[in-house]
Amino acid sequence: MSRILDGAAIAAEIKAEVAAEVSQLAAQGIRPGLAAVLVGNVAASQIYVRSKVKTCADLGIYSEMITPPETVTTEEMLALIADLNARDDIDGILIQLPLPGHVDTKRLLDAVSPDKDVDGFHPVNAGRLQAGRLSGKDSALAPCTPAGVIEILKRSGIAIAGKHAVVVGRSDIVGKPAAMLLLHENATVTICHSKTQDLPSITRQADILVAAIGRAGFITPEMIKTEKTGPGATVIDVGINRITEPAEFERFFAGDSKRAESFAKRGSTLVGDVHPKAFAVAGAYTPVPGGVGPLTIAMLMANTVRAARMRRGQ
Ligand code: GUN
Repeated sequence: MSRILDGAAIAAEIKAEVAAEVSQLAAQGIRPGLAAVLVGNVAASQIYVRSKVKTCADLGIYSEMITPPETVTTEEMLALIADLNARDDIDGILIQLPLPGHVDTKRLLDAVSPDKDVDGFHPVNAGRLQAGRLSGKDSALAPCTPAGVIEILKRSGIAIAGKHAVVVGRSDIVGKPAAMLLLHENATVTICHSKTQDLPSITRQADILVAAIGRAGFITPEMIKTEKTGPGATVIDVGINRITEPAEFERFFAGDSKRAESFAKRGSTLVGDVHPKAFAVAGAYTPVPGGVGPLTIAMLMANTVRAARMRRGQ
């Protein structure tokens, strides 16, 4: 039987630790603060940002949601970011992505002070991460989802050092930083992408397989080192894909009556980048939903508190 790695439980554990740290800081008269900037009316972004702001409230972190209209200009956003950079009550700045097409996203992300970049998207933080500066003064704020992947592995007691970790996907937000973090944990790391030849032959070597491709059910059972031939792989599924087509539902979830019920009720369901049938042959895996997803917000909270400390020289 494959072991299910319960992301929600691990996220709850981390949030409890963050809340305790927030209490300690309160005793020193410090209240960490997060500014979440949400442009326009993208429904998914609204849900994410509301959830981030609510989690701040739950943990005692000050937060502010700033909602410029869809028509906001790059210049106006730059002025807003400059204001947040200068504010002493704001430790973390989060610009929810995607931004409208007419806005220069790269210029905006580069304008966020690296010390307040709790998403870890600034090139200075990417550089600190790749240079292995992960703790102490002027260390990296690591991107939240990849940082969450490491927390799941560590807190589940899954060894990383010396293992072959294969990351499928090379995005700046997930694939690349996940590979870097795994390398710093002494894994032997392979990064695969759309031009990789004979992908299954590589993924089958993975002791730890991180799927961050953004394509529903892309990783199939024959791509995984199975329990039959030794310890099965630990499969970390970063994908969150919403499917609405009944044919697609059947392709992934045929015979799963619980899913079918919820699909019939809502008209959609979530599937990761790993085909559900591939989980069955793995040693351990993160489900979708309830795997990596909950960690992203937990790590954002942890980064906000870390940014608050670092900015005060702690
Ligand atoms: N959009 C989707 N995921 C994220 C994230 O982790 N951070 C930000 N800022 N935007 C996102």
